[in-house]
Amino acid sequence: MTEPNLVSAYASEAERDAEVSVRPRRLADFIAQHRVRDQLDLLLQGAMRRGSPPDHILLSGPPGLGKTSLANIVAAELGTGIRVTSGPAIERSGDLAAILTSLAEGDVLFIDEIHRIARPAEELLYSAMEDFRVDVVVGKGPGATAIPLDVEPFTLVGATTRSGLLTGPMRDRFGFVAHLDFYSPADLEALLHRSARILGVPITDDGAAEIAGRSRGTPRIANRLLRRVRDFAEVRADGVVTLETARAALTVYDVDALGLDRLDRAVLTALVDSFRGGPVGLSTLAVAVGEQPDTVEEVCEPFLVRAGLLARTPRGRVATEAAWHHLGRIPPNGTFGLDAPPVPDLFTRAPEQP
Ligand SMILES: Nc1ncnc2c1ncn2[C@@H]1O[C@H](COP(=O)(O)OP(=O)(O)OP(=O)(O)O)[C@@H](O)[C@H]1O
Ligand SMILES: [Mg+2]
Repeated sequence: MTEPNLVSAYASEAERDAEVSVRPRRLADFIAQHRVRDQLDLLLQGAMRRGSPPDHILLSGPPGLGKTSLANIVAAELGTGIRVTSGPAIERSGDLAAILTSLAEGDVLFIDEIHRIARPAEELLYSAMEDFRVDVVVGKGPGATAIPLDVEPFTLVGATTRSGLLTGPMRDRFGFVAHLDFYSPADLEALLHRSARILGVPITDDGAAEIAGRSRGTPRIANRLLRRVRDFAEVRADGVVTLETARAALTVYDVDALGLDRLDRAVLTALVDSFRGGPVGLSTLAVAVGEQPDTVEEVCEPFLVRAGLLARTPRGRVATEAAWHHLGRIPPNGTFGLDAPPVPDLFTRAPEQP
């Protein structure tokens, strides 16, 4: 399995297969996210008491936080079947009509990346969600007729990493919207103990804590780092994941104490050492680390900003005081960072000085 970026929140196809064994199956196995869990529990229990399918459910949040897991859990808790598809996979509305009309009563239809569904299919979905009915158009041109078809009552579970891209009418048709947040280190520690138990990996509390702290609040990354540390523990040590093996392994894999990888650290180091902490324009910063601006902006910056190490300002990128400390540098006194004059950007016009 190739995992080029150990701390990416995205998964390759191979990794999605590796994830199946540790995927939580029931609500009780789903670690943390207590608010979402409680709300879902009420929704599902209420529906089961009434004997009718629950409202349609929208799960939104960054990659790797458990949307697909929750969609499967919904079906497992309801004891119903689940059909899985995704926005990009539904090219024609006919494809969707075929899926909808083949659902059994009470089934869950899971549409991943629902923000990427094509518009005609989306419109078909509206009537299915609202009235459990679809109009299938037969024929072309003036002779075309719409044949109304019934759809069994079902529950749509939609997942999206970009809820802002959903259309208003789409969002309004979900009766229940859950937003998944990043996990705390303590939550990830619990998650790692669970995964280690399933994988048969002996792990100590401080070993789990060490991996949790480097996992960027993301279960997928925690599980991935656990698999890599397990390799290291088995090959170079006695197979037990301890504080020492976790530290040694993650040093080998170039994942630092905050979960930054080589490129993240290169960006911060360039910012601090070459540009006195900034502000510096994105394209200059990208050249300094030998990467495309898009890569720096989309791969590195979101986490650096979230971790409070980098700020995006109108005058350019700035290293925060925490970034200096994280790199083991002493932040300069007086004007640096947010107050400093900007370093002119290579490819864009430097901002006017006030
Ligand atoms: N709350 C949780 N408890 C236990 N394991 C979890 C939890 N959330 C996620 N995981 C683990 O993380 C992995 C990734 O979760 P999942 O595939 O559900 O994320 P996702 O939000 O659907 O990601 P993507 O946006 O990339 O599709 C799962 O295989 C599962 O093992
Ligand atoms: Mg998913």
